[in-house]
Amino acid sequence: MCGIIGFTGNIPVQDILLDGLQRLEYRGYDSAGIAYFKEEQHISLRKTAGKVADLRAICDDNNSSVCGIGHTRWATHGGVSNVNAHPHRVGKVALIHNGIIENYHELIEKFHLGGKLKSETDTEVAAAVFEALYDGDPEEAIRRGVKLFKGSFAFCILFADHPGEVYAIRNVSPMVAAHCEEGSFIASDLTAFISYSNRYFIVPEYHLLKMTPDGITMASLEGETAEPEYLEVDWDVTAAQKEGYAHFMLKEINEQPEAISRTIVPRLANGLPDFTEDGIDDSFFEDCSDITIVACGTAMHAGLVGKSLLQNMFQIPVTVAIASEFRYEAPVIGEKSMVIVVSQSGETIDTLEALKLANRYTKKTLAVVNVKGSSIARESNYVLYTHAGPEIAVASTKAYTVQVATFFLLAVKLGLVTGKMTEKDARAFVDNLQRVPDVIRQILLTADDIEELTQRMTNAQNTFFIGRGLDYSLAMEGALKLKEISYIHAEAYAAGELKHGTIALISEGVPVISIANQSHVYSKVISNIREVKARGAYVILLSRDEKISDPSICDVQLRIPDLPDAFTVFPSVVILQFIAYFAAVGKGFNPDQPRNLAKSVTVE
Ligand code: M6R
Repeated sequence: MCGIIGFTGNIPVQDILLDGLQRLEYRGYDSAGIAYFKEEQHISLRKTAGKVADLRAICDDNNSSVCGIGHTRWATHGGVSNVNAHPHRVGKVALIHNGIIENYHELIEKFHLGGKLKSETDTEVAAAVFEALYDGDPEEAIRRGVKLFKGSFAFCILFADHPGEVYAIRNVSPMVAAHCEEGSFIASDLTAFISYSNRYFIVPEYHLLKMTPDGITMASLEGETAEPEYLEVDWDVTAAQKEGYAHFMLKEINEQPEAISRTIVPRLANGLPDFTEDGIDDSFFEDCSDITIVACGTAMHAGLVGKSLLQNMFQIPVTVAIASEFRYEAPVIGEKSMVIVVSQSGETIDTLEALKLANRYTKKTLAVVNVKGSSIARESNYVLYTHAGPEIAVASTKAYTVQVATFFLLAVKLGLVTGKMTEKDARAFVDNLQRVPDVIRQILLTADDIEELTQRMTNAQNTFFIGRGLDYSLAMEGALKLKEISYIHAEAYAAGELKHGTIALISEGVPVISIANQSHVYSKVISNIREVKARGAYVILLSRDEKISDPSICDVQLRIPDLPDAFTVFPSVVILQFIAYFAAVGKGFNPDQPRNLAKSVTVE
């Protein structure tokens, strides 16, 4: 949450900051601002409520500064206003912040700041604390300051009498940095400066960075020098651009076939899953008593698919836990338990803390993560990277399908290692998995039909998503997608549960998106559909049927290609993603930046 970028070097900073903020905007888009050295010992600020485009409009066309910092905000303390926008300047200090300083009230008292602050933010308090502690030595002021702060933070700081220098420090909230030909960069994530460098390092917690045009020095709070550990990514700036698509979400929906191939193909040896290159050998899967999958939002929904697969195929007890609940409960985890955490960003604070808790109980912690070197990846004992490439749209699409594909691979591996799956069955399963990218391509070609057939959704007030078994997990994902970008109220229900209360909400014309692809409950779910149809629902049915025996049960059918039950989740979810996308666009909303949300949830 909140995007931050800093640069000092040999080219003008303003466009670097504005372009970087544009790419970081998915982390928050309430307000934006920049600070830069205008002349010796003077820091200028430009900031405004609104988007980066609004900030760009108030920036100076002739800005030749080569050192500055920029921020795009997701409001936590204080409403969305010009004055609450970052950067905050107090005396000689100007800073930007991602995170929450929990004890800011205490600090206001301790430093007698009452009545002296302009904004309602915890960030301005931090700036005032650094200013109060500053006597000409930036590093000393920062070291003393951060020892007083409780909470999470990633700061980039300018000191007016140290032109050309950017200081940075973090706890929990992520930051990456790099030095390259043009100068030194720092940001919340690599997308901000990928056009300059595909090499970067993760800023270690509580390490103080001093950035100059010539390089970056890094030292612990005790003053011990540390060397950056550089990582490299194999994607470039085009992966973080729309490339002709109307929205990032649409682009990312379309990228799913390649993302799935990139995630599964390198992990197949002789037609079977092999995680040796990931540093995970078969012993990891041996002697596993139970599995807990922990995640948030869409990643948690991917976990629900994982649960259905693993538990039903091998009768291993599998629990799926919402990370924000799990971290405050007494976990039922033993030494033989496997804990799988799932996260696109690898920075979701609740998932990270849940993982830290799990690490206390078992060594078998495995992270399924998209972002290389992220906090969750580093904290976990084992990691399987998904290779979706950067996901920019707030609504997760390709990250979900690669997480689900990873569970399919894990299922086969677990089945083989535990002797619960024959090699023949495993090969057949993998063959079907390899068909998935092409099956999704077929669905992508039908986008216009899906848009036309589901136009009705745009005007809906309330909608329901129903299914049984695996399809119920999908229903939850479909409902979340629709809610978060189109603001249409959507509820997901296990189809058989509707008549225990919720069916009372079904009235004439209410859309019910019904998924019926699990053979063992097919006739049951069809009966449930009849029940809502009889009460006037407008039924959109996702099923494999070439010809539905009783066409009166639905108003629209969206056909799923003929695949074994479990594999239908892939084409089905792509259709659900399109339904949400077209509903949002049809209502005139930007699906990439839904209200109140941000991509990476790094606060509790
Ligand atoms: O980065 P993570 O996968 O840990 O994020 C988890 C959720 O915040 C995320 O999936 C969220 O629910 C998506 N916006 C949904 O589209």
